[in-house]
Amino acid sequence: MTSPTLAERRLETYRRLLTISQTLTSTLDLLTLLEVIVNAARDLTDTEATSILLLDQKTGQLYFEAVTGSKSEEIRRVVVPPTSLAGWVARVGEVQIINDVQKDDRFYAQSDERTGFQTRSLIAVPMKVKERIIGVLEAINPVDGRTFDDDDVDVLTTLSAQAAIAIENARLFQQSDLISEMVHELRTPLTSIVAYSELLLRQAVEPEMAQEFIETIYQEALNLSNMTNAFLELSRLQSGRVRFQMAPVAIGELIEEIAALLRPQLDRLNLTFNVQLPDPPIRVIGDRERLRQVIVNLASNAIKYNRPNGSVLIKVTPPDAGQYVTLSVSDTGRGIPAKDLPHIFEKFYRVADSEGYAQGTGLGLNIVRQIVEAHGSHVEVDSEVDRGTTFRFTLKAAR
Ligand SMILES: Nc1ncnc2c1ncn2[C@@H]1O[C@H](COP(=O)(O)OP(=O)(O)OP(=O)(O)O)[C@@H](O)[C@H]1O
Ligand SMILES: [Mg+2]
Repeated sequence: MTSPTLAERRLETYRRLLTISQTLTSTLDLLTLLEVIVNAARDLTDTEATSILLLDQKTGQLYFEAVTGSKSEEIRRVVVPPTSLAGWVARVGEVQIINDVQKDDRFYAQSDERTGFQTRSLIAVPMKVKERIIGVLEAINPVDGRTFDDDDVDVLTTLSAQAAIAIENARLFQQSDLISEMVHELRTPLTSIVAYSELLLRQAVEPEMAQEFIETIYQEALNLSNMTNAFLELSRLQSGRVRFQMAPVAIGELIEEIAALLRPQLDRLNLTFNVQLPDPPIRVIGDRERLRQVIVNLASNAIKYNRPNGSVLIKVTPPDAGQYVTLSVSDTGRGIPAKDLPHIFEKFYRVADSEGYAQGTGLGLNIVRQIVEAHGSHVEVDSEVDRGTTFRFTLKAAR
């Protein structure tokens, strides 16, 4: 058997590229799509591993989103520094080939530690939509020990251009999904507002009854108004149009401000409210207005889902050895059943009997999670039915 000529090999590669690009345009689920891309990139370049790094639209951080092979879960979401090779490509927007990475001081060795790979050579191409860079596609170590060449650059550049468009489409699709979900949610309160006002307009309603209808209309209109605000916020967060203004925030002051705002609600339900702050006062790194939203959302839940005469505690620990503080919001409320816990951060998710208990859209915690994650942290929750719930996350203390 004669081995294929260079021309034949190129033809075969382009035939495969074509098939892949058809798959890419028909896949709208982002994670599936990324998987298809990294696997295609590995097959096309015949390398040991490939990965996709995406630029976080909010924070500008570059992080691993998909990696071929079994270690993918460990490396997913790992942020790489701007000084790394991928960081360089994401900034400058040009292809880089390094045939001996150990000699290039932009190489980010920590990725190897996580994946167990020993990177020898690496090729990194920017992923662009129009002229905007959305991420980086990387391939490492050709399997037959050859060095990366112009053919690899061609193939990966073509793939990454198509991949970038497909990623953008998948993101837009997620957004359009959100819009239909939102419209769906708006319908319920709208229907009842229309129905009750019709009754008031058309029929002679007893004054007492009329009062009740007006009350309902008012409540539903308030509900609509809250929903609209939450929708706006969520779609802003998802679209990436939000820029986080990271700066030192006097967290104690912020919490006291919020406490003053929530006081009437707390008093109405006869709840005890406590704040525990580090002494001396500290500042944390964050976006003050977004952190306010997080704390207000968590504290509102702690109030809404509490019991009469219960209590709410907001606590900030002193910085630990790594200069992180933990902020927690605890309540003595109804708690969250274990089967619901994995879902409470999903959009529109509400525990089954919450409906009768307190009004809400089920968006608050989703917004909280997105903001906290944009701060490089993660929200944790402990809950026990009939005992109470604690939400917590860490923040970096300012020096
Ligand atoms: N502190 C808490 N105690 C008990 N259940 C809670 C608590 N916080 C949240 N939950 C449950 O999780 C669900 C989702 O909370 P989330 O804040 O996202 O929505 P919501 O409060 O229903 O509406 P929104 O915050 O948008 O007005 C709530 O409906 C409630 O069932
Ligand atoms: Mg809420």
